Amino acid sequence: MYNSKITGLGYFVPDNIVTNDDLKQWMETSDEWIQERTGIKERRWIDPATKETTSTMAAKAAKIAIKRAGLTKDDIDFIVFATLSPDMYFPGGGVRIQDMLEMPTIGALDVRNQCSGFIYSLSVADQFIKTGMYKNILVIGSENHSGGLERSTRGRNVTVIFGDGAGAAVLSRCEQDGKGILSSHLHSEGKHAKELALEGPSTGRWVPEILAENDPDDVSYYPYMNGQFVFKHAVVRFSEAIVEGLKANGLEKKDINMLIPHQANLRIAQFIQRKFELSDDQVYNNIMKYGNTTAASVIIALTEAWEKGKIHEGDLVILAAFGSGFTWGSVVIRW
Ligand code: ACO
Repeated sequence: MYNSKITGLGYFVPDNIVTNDDLKQWMETSDEWIQERTGIKERRWIDPATKETTSTMAAKAAKIAIKRAGLTKDDIDFIVFATLSPDMYFPGGGVRIQDMLEMPTIGALDVRNQCSGFIYSLSVADQFIKTGMYKNILVIGSENHSGGLERSTRGRNVTVIFGDGAGAAVLSRCEQDGKGILSSHLHSEGKHAKELALEGPSTGRWVPEILAENDPDDVSYYPYMNGQFVFKHAVVRFSEAIVEGLKANGLEKKDINMLIPHQANLRIAQFIQRKFELSDDQVYNNIMKYGNTTAASVIIALTEAWEKGKIHEGDLVILAAFGSGFTWGSVVIRW
């Protein structure tokens, strides 16, 4: 059995900054409401003139990660791509990256786990490396939310939260014991699927059906979120996933050097910080600048924390996420 460790990190966010005040052109909202409830000050939304997509952002992040790993595109054996906002209904984003980066005909897998997408993807890649099947895997989380949000007062509880961006990691074989990914734990509870979902278009609700009904109140093609219900589950599941990861490795909360929580809401991250008695330096948050970038959020935050020198060789780093599905999980890393 081999271990896997992260050897390269990269991220890309669009240049276009949308502040809380900017949102007022489309909906009744306020900077005060958004900051107080979520911690978000601004987010990046793709400027349509740039023709940026989920895959083009992912490709930019991936190039940086591959270079920082000291590798070339030809060294990558497999792609795992997490997104809820692929460029096309099908195929997914993985094959787009294979093409855009002019990679050989390696396998490309898409993961559909929303905010937990990067945690799930990292776990999948880790298993492929542990079994010896692959040596270097490109793991990506990327989202173009702005293209699919309802820019009106009706959609404001969801729309103000989400931002666009991409992050990528190269996960490589590591032959040192006790280094790299120590564990991953994944969970789901599908009975809550509709509490945070985009129902149509889907095979259960296809475009002609939506058009035929011509119901102006039918917004099933926009995301729906039962915010308070999601919030209550998130704080519980985040904690459980972190405790589970620590226990599996015989570790305690005092052993944590850096926690990278999915950037869903600053209030959730602060709750977890207090619960695990972590200092401000031990939890990395950037939701203030980027909003919730779903599958990209953990990997963008991890990359930024690493770029700022907040993660050191030998540190215990915990990644944790919760989101639509519901799905949640954690990854414990000895850096
Ligand atoms: N601006 C101003 N007012 C607003 C806005 C807005 N953007 N959005 C909602 N409101 C109003 C509502 O209409 C409501 O008004 P009312 O009391 O007159 O009816 C009031 O503010 C309170 O609305 P709530 O939805 O109850 O607000 P809440 O305190 O729950 O905050 C939030 C909403 C921030 C979304 C919170 O519930 C949350 O963060 N939930 C968890 C999100 C999460 O973790 N998601 C998981 C990941 S996402 C994924 O997987 C894709």
